[in-house]
Amino acid sequence: MISIRAAQSDDLPEIFALWQALMANGEASDPRYRLAPNGADRMRQYIHDGWFVDRPFPRTLLAVDPQPVGFIQGVIVDSLGILDFAPSVRIGDLWVNPEYRHRGIGRSLVAHFVDRATAAGFPRIEVGTLIRDERAVAFWRALGFVDLNVILAREPKAIG
Ligand SMILES: CC(C)(COP(=O)(O)OP(=O)(O)OC[C@H]1O[C@@H](n2cnc3c(N)ncnc32)[C@H](O)[C@@H]1OP(=O)(O)O)[C@@H](O)C(=O)NCCC(=O)NCCS
Repeated sequence: MISIRAAQSDDLPEIFALWQALMANGEASDPRYRLAPNGADRMRQYIHDGWFVDRPFPRTLLAVDPQPVGFIQGVIVDSLGILDFAPSVRIGDLWVNPEYRHRGIGRSLVAHFVDRATAAGFPRIEVGTLIRDERAVAFWRALGFVDLNVILAREPKAIG
């Protein structure tokens, strides 16, 4: 029976493994999206420092069976009060292990995360995903997300 709960600091090893699978998926979608030589170590520290904050809502939720099989993570967006947006959260990462897909777990992780953020006063949700990852883009569109902006990138070798 799958359930969803807030992540705790002792979940770090399992979350890190799930995040590494997510990164490998991203690199398979677009080879430009790859880790720096010490990127994994930096990321482990970043997860340790920021992902287990639980106020005013938990930044990381896990789907567990009872071992972690998926996660969602987001951050509060600071728009400095310049843009006329409702208080916002940006989902940074979402992952469901392949053998658990198409059972509604991804949708459920998003719904739980949105419910908790909304209850804490952050009703507006953003997400970024790789434009070449058609499955991920289709997933977010199916959940009602629409285009807002696009980030264009030119790699250094293309200059000149
Ligand atoms: C994207 C992902 C999280 C979806 O997880 P999931 O548990 O399979 O998703 P769900 O079963 O909740 O599906 C929710 C909806 O998304 C859509 N969807 C799911 N998989 C899809 C696919 N392969 N192609 C198109 N749409 C898809 C469907 O509309 C589905 O609704 P339905 O079940 O009513 O048809 C999972 O495929 C994954 O981990 N992918 C790799 C990482 C990734 O892309 N993360 C998102 C970017 S950060």
